[in-house]
Order: sequence, then structure tokens, then C-alpha cells
Amino acid sequence: MPGLLEGRGITVRFGGLTALKGVDFGVAPGEVLSVIGPNGAGKTTLFNVITGRVRPTEGSVMFRGEAIHRLPPFRVARLGIVRTFQKTEVFASLPLMDGVAAGALARDDPDPSARAREALETVGLLGKAALTAGQLSYGDQRLLELAQALAVAPAVLLLDEPASGMNHQESAHIVRLIGELRDKGLAVILVEHNMHVVMTISDRVMVINYGEKIAEGSPAAVRGDPRVIEAYLGRQQGSDADPR
Ligand SMILES: Nc1ncnc2c1ncn2[C@@H]1O[C@H](COP(=O)(O)OP(=O)(O)O)[C@@H](O)[C@H]1O
Ligand SMILES: [Mg+2]
Repeated sequence: MPGLLEGRGITVRFGGLTALKGVDFGVAPGEVLSVIGPNGAGKTTLFNVITGRVRPTEGSVMFRGEAIHRLPPFRVARLGIVRTFQKTEVFASLPLMDGVAAGALARDDPDPSARAREALETVGLLGKAALTAGQLSYGDQRLLELAQALAVAPAVLLLDEPASGMNHQESAHIVRLIGELRDKGLAVILVEHNMHVVMTISDRVMVINYGEKIAEGSPAAVRGDPRVIEAYLGRQQGSDADPR
């Protein structure tokens, strides 16, 4: 089923600034699409368009053939299009279980706590379910955020820099998890600066620069593309090794 989620000609202008310019994309179930590009390229804006936070100035986003680019964020989430944020957003003072169950409640799940349990188990946090989010390490907070998203039973999962600030072991865990979710049939769209993560997990990579798509293809094809090296990868020296 190609085109579970499809964007056509997405343009976003903020006053005089064009954050996205005529971007097309599509993602299928069981596929990981990565979106890479320098800071300010428009990656988060693309997520904001897909999730209903920003309305495109031009273009459309279709989910299962239905236009969704004019829907408010909660309606988009109810369709099963769920994101995590570039900066961690967890309910610091709530027990993990409650914060994650809130995600399931949002989708009228008949058994939110079962769904929360399942999501925490998937990310490996079930053993810490009685702790509050504030008591977790940074890496575990990022996993918690993923569990919150999974509790909504997404069809499309958008991950904004899930490996940022993670050490090698933690990012390897994230890669394994994303692979499992993909194998379960989720469509995953990943924004990530850690090129080791991107090149390991992606089925397809799309590169944006100043709001325009400059390349799209297999990780190997994109990695060798001179325009991509010029605009982005060539400036990424050493980023395979996590700075922390
Ligand atoms: N709500 C907004 N209002 C005005 N400008 C914005 C807004 N959101 C993003 N931008 C601008 O759009 C451009 C793309 O930003 P962003 O999508 O966050 O890039 P990336 O995630 O690739 O780093 C940047 O120049 C940013 O400053
Ligand atoms: Mg961003």
C-alpha cells in the first residue's frame, strides 16, 4: 500500500520566509522514511504540517486517500498519526503508567492501562512503571515519549530526533525499536542527525535544504549524492560518533 500518507507540493511560508517549497513525500506501512538536512531546512515544519500544527500555504497531505491538512492536531492524532518532539515532552510528576495511559485515552481505547502497559513493555520501561517521569534518566525519558506515542496505537509514527543526546548504547536500542515497529507494519518518518542511525534503519531517505527536496533514495544512493554531501553530509564530520 504505497501512499498511506502522501504529501503533494507542500509549501509553507512564514511571512517572508519560505520554510518549505513544493515538497512531495509518501510513506507506506512497514517503511522507514528519514528526512535529513541542515538546521533550519524545514524538517520540523514538515512534521508540523503532517500533524495539523501548521497549515500549508499550498499543497496537500492525504492519509488513506483523505485530505488531512486542514484538520486540527487532535483530529490528525485520532486518525493514528502521532509524533514525538525534538525536545522531550513528558509529564514529569506523573507515574509513567498514567502519562502513557493518557495517550490511549485520547483515542478512546477501551482499556488505556493495558495499552499503556504494552507500550511501556515495548520500549523496555515496564519495570520502572511506578516511577515518575522526572525520576528517569534523559535516555529513558526519550523512550517514555516513544511509549506515549505508541499508546495511541499509531499507523504513522513521526520521530523528531529520537536519538539526540543519546549515547551509543541508547541509540542502538532506538534503532532496534524502530526496526521492530516497522516490522509490525507501522509507517515511520524519522528526522535524525545521527547519520549512523539514519543509514542503518532507513528504507528511504529524503534530503531537504532551505525548504526544498534536493534528493531522495536508498541510504546508499543519498549518501553518495554530491549535492547531499555539499549541502549537508560534508558538514557533518564526526557526527557518526555521538558527541556525548
Ligand atoms: N512558527 C514559525 N514561525 C516563523 N518561522 C518559523 C516557524 N517555524 C519554523 N520557522 C522557520 O522555518 C525554517 C525551518 O525551520 P524548521 O522546520 O524548524 O527546521 P529544521 O527542523 O529542519 O531545523 C527556519 O528558518 C525557522 O526559523
Ligand atoms: Mg527541527
